Amino acid sequence: MWRPSVNSRPGPVTPDDIARLDRDDPLAARRSLFALPEGVIYLDGNSLGALPKSVPARIAQAVEQEWGVGLIRSWNDAGWYPAPQRVGARIAPLVGAAPDEVIVADSTSVNLFKVLVAALRMRPGRRRIVGERGSFPTDAYVAAGVAELMDAEFVAVEPDAVADAIDERTAVVSLTHVNYKTGRVYDMAGITRRAHAAGALVVWDLCHTAGAMPCDLNGCDADFAVGCGYKYLNGGPGAPAFVFVAQRHQAGLRQPIAGWHGHAHPFDFVHDYVPAAGIDRMLVGTAPQLGLLALEEALKAFDGVDLQQLRRKSEQMTELFIRLADQELAPWGFGLASPRDAAQRGSQVSLTHPEGYAIMQALIARGVIGDFRAPDILRFGFAVLYVGFADLWNAVAALKDVMATGAWQAPEFSRRKAVT
Ligand SMILES: Cc1ncc(COP(=O)(O)O)c(C=O)c1O
Repeated sequence: MWRPSVNSRPGPVTPDDIARLDRDDPLAARRSLFALPEGVIYLDGNSLGALPKSVPARIAQAVEQEWGVGLIRSWNDAGWYPAPQRVGARIAPLVGAAPDEVIVADSTSVNLFKVLVAALRMRPGRRRIVGERGSFPTDAYVAAGVAELMDAEFVAVEPDAVADAIDERTAVVSLTHVNYKTGRVYDMAGITRRAHAAGALVVWDLCHTAGAMPCDLNGCDADFAVGCGYKYLNGGPGAPAFVFVAQRHQAGLRQPIAGWHGHAHPFDFVHDYVPAAGIDRMLVGTAPQLGLLALEEALKAFDGVDLQQLRRKSEQMTELFIRLADQELAPWGFGLASPRDAAQRGSQVSLTHPEGYAIMQALIARGVIGDFRAPDILRFGFAVLYVGFADLWNAVAALKDVMATGAWQAPEFSRRKAVT
């Protein structure tokens, strides 16, 4: 049983506290599964997960043997064809789903489009999508696009007003479980219950949830979910995404991109579209095998991980980071954009500062990698499989130094790059 908490005693956090937390961390050994560069503190796993050490060899094998030697035969012989289902089944337990309810395909944006159209089709008398202001832009753009296409409307309200905005006009509620900017967590069970009571369906975006904290899609009676493979699941840049459809909705589901891989018999090459049974109908076209295989290999880092332990460490990390920020950064005008209550926080802490971009660039130059989200948010994500408590101590010390020395004011740090 893992007991220590950063709040276990009053007063400032000390190096001894940090040493104790790292010593008692049951997940500490997982870090050796990742190829993190020397001298880097990586707090951006919420944007791009770190490289698991076993992935390069798996990709080399896929390229040199399966592609190079096996050629087209590898679709059958190397297990390529069933990879979307197989990798989906690996993700399922991380999000509280059954193996045949999750499949890997396309991007999060495309999967969102598919499930929103499908959900609207399941509620023919209703023409409203309810979402939130301040969601990740793609969620709002896709919902607005679907609304236009389906002669419906997209209503985006403040996060606290979502529950009240759901009524008998609502076909579907589309929310991100953990907000990408603030890390604020929605009450998945409560919102889903509220939506169902009004006769509406719910889509959950799990981009900042899957691999970062447990969630229980089936325990919450969720309808649909989408999420990406490249953040906390460590699948690599542009890794394919996943989509969840609750078993009870699969048979009647009509998603809008009727592609040949979603057909019941793709290799019959018939003219008329007949959707595959079950979750397979969420497929569209040929799966990006290299990305899929990298994601599959990366997911092995989660084998045997107790998700409650993962959550506990994540809460301790976000709590520690906030305490250290309070303790060390007070003179420099930072704000806290994340909830102070750990139960309402995902696995990230977001600070605000009017000079956030330059400060983050100066921090990155010192090997502490987080990211910046306009207009003023410095984001620090804690992928607990490879981040330790000493990393947080050192990261805040580096941030303090960047402020105390004014290093962030160097002109090169204010020039905006394309990706922030
Ligand atoms: C909440 C959320 N949804 C969606 C996306 C992006 O989706 P896609 O995989 O289509 O790029 C992100 C990317 O950061 C995100 O944070």
